[in-house]
Amino acid sequence: MKNTLMTLIIVAFVFSIGYAEDFTYIGSKKCKMCHKGEKKGMVFEKWEKGPHAKAFETLKKEGAETKPECLVCHTTGYDKSGYKIGEANAADFEGVGCESCHGPGSAYKKISVMKDKAQAMENGLIIPDAKVCTQCHNEKSKDFKGFKFDEYVKKIDHTYIKK
Ligand code: HEC
Ligand code: HEC
Ligand code: HEC
Ligand code: HEC
Repeated sequence: MKNTLMTLIIVAFVFSIGYAEDFTYIGSKKCKMCHKGEKKGMVFEKWEKGPHAKAFETLKKEGAETKPECLVCHTTGYDKSGYKIGEANAADFEGVGCESCHGPGSAYKKISVMKDKAQAMENGLIIPDAKVCTQCHNEKSKDFKGFKFDEYVKKIDHTYIKK
């Protein structure tokens, strides 16, 4: 009886760890190797030149780069497995990275998974809609200028796949 109970506790513990570690943030640099260059639609380059990549620089200019109430929208995966103040890999998560919109990439980044959209989505890939954007584009931002999905999505367009 005691043994059965112990086994149950151990099994429950192992499962809880398994779930907690499901999908973790890996940083935009890891997406770069497959999503750069003309043939791949210059996705990384477009992001790098766009507003989201420089969101952390914007905080620095304001001297607000250590304020949690700002970092939550100006970094990637803050308070989750992404940006943490003082962490060695913090630079990988500065600004609004790929995974802020497409979800943490630890499980979908593998080429065999990525090639298959359905499989990628089962492994955490998000094809973003307006709700993803309004997590940050809302009144909690002191600089909120309003948000129209159709208009805003055009400004950050990086589509290239022929459908
Ligand atoms: C090992 C290479 C590789 C890595 C790393 C990689 N991808 Fe991909 N990704 C692909 C390939 C291949 C496709 C299929 C489209 C294509 O061939 O251009 C794809 C497709 C996608 C799509 C489009 C899905 C669809 O069909 O609409 C998104 C979004 C995407 N990747 C995001 C990311 C993000 C975000 C990261 C980093 C967290 C990432 N990828 C890392 C290779 C990769
Ligand atoms: C994690 C938070 C976050 C998410 C999610 C997010 N954004 Fe942003 N976005 C920002 C921040 C922060 C800025 C301001 C960057 C700066 O100026 O430094 C910004 C700026 C922009 C700008 C430039 C606005 C201007 O006035 O020039 C556009 C366009 C934009 N975002 C579109 C989108 C769209 C479309 C989505 C969803 C597909 C989205 N964003 C999702 C945080 C986010
Ligand atoms: C709820 C998410 C969110 C929070 C919290 C947030 N921001 Fe932003 N911030 C944004 C978005 C989104 C934009 C882009 C503005 C827009 O298009 O509405 C932005 C833009 C900015 C800009 C550029 C303004 C401009 O007009 O060019 C500055 C500066 C800025 N934020 C600083 C801060 C500071 C400092 C804090 C903390 C006190 C903070 N933000 C907290 C989401 C946020
Ligand atoms: C602010 C949110 C946001 C960020 C940041 C972002 N994306 Fe996207 N991404 C989108 C949206 C929105 C779409 C269009 C989805 C659709 O087709 O409806 C998209 C589409 C894609 C596609 C599919 C292109 C196609 O032709 O269908 C790929 C691949 C992709 N993103 C990769 C990336 C990579 C890699 C990064 C980082 C370098 C990145 N994205 C950063 C919002 C974002």
